[in-house]
Amino acid sequence: SKPAETPKAKVLKVGSETTFAPFEFQDEKSKEYVGFDMDLIRAIGKEMGVEVQIQSMGFDGLIPALEAGNIDVAISGMTITAERAKKVDFSTPYYKSGLSMVVKVDNDTLKTFKDLEGKRIAVQIGTTGAMEAKKIKDATIREFNNAPEAFMELKAGGVDAVVNDLPVNEYYIAQAGGKDAKVVGEPLTSEEYGIAISKKNTETTEKVNKAIEALKKNGEYERIYMKWFGK
Ligand code: ARG
Repeated sequence: SKPAETPKAKVLKVGSETTFAPFEFQDEKSKEYVGFDMDLIRAIGKEMGVEVQIQSMGFDGLIPALEAGNIDVAISGMTITAERAKKVDFSTPYYKSGLSMVVKVDNDTLKTFKDLEGKRIAVQIGTTGAMEAKKIKDATIREFNNAPEAFMELKAGGVDAVVNDLPVNEYYIAQAGGKDAKVVGEPLTSEEYGIAISKKNTETTEKVNKAIEALKKNGEYERIYMKWFGK
């Protein structure tokens, strides 16, 4: 008789812009994608009984990739917005965030978002940070492919501030940027992150939501949260 075949696990194709620590970034040694989102999506995959395959791409390419069916889900610190919700569905919110600003460590004049009027601001292309910065009166907006490039431009003196997600700004300051830069002011917005899924794929959205619920019940969500944000 034939040996029993082990059924191959179904693959969940995950897209992410992976230079957004502590949500998604590449571990220097192992080259693995690590971070809060990466742990969360792997735990969700486990709940769903699928194999998670992570693919790195530009942030502004994630929604087109979902629409084209090249990926099944996008997890990328992506804020749930009405604009995006016209194109894709979102899971239940999984993280509360907001925008803040980063300036040079010795800058004592830029304290609030109001102070950014007429200034030069670096943002990541396609983000809520870019959207909000464009509303600031007379500001010059410089758009970069990712947050690290925006931080580098601040360090180089090419801009006066970076507008970006608060937890990412704080992680940057704590890890590498603290000598050069600081986070100032009150958060500009209150935002929630969701996992984006094609509107054609409502079955996946339901499964992802069930998995998130299970992880919240069984303590796994809390464990992952504490790993990355616990003090
Ligand atoms: N939360 C912001 C947004 O949705 C920025 C997300 C950027 N994420 C990333 N992985 N680079 O627009």
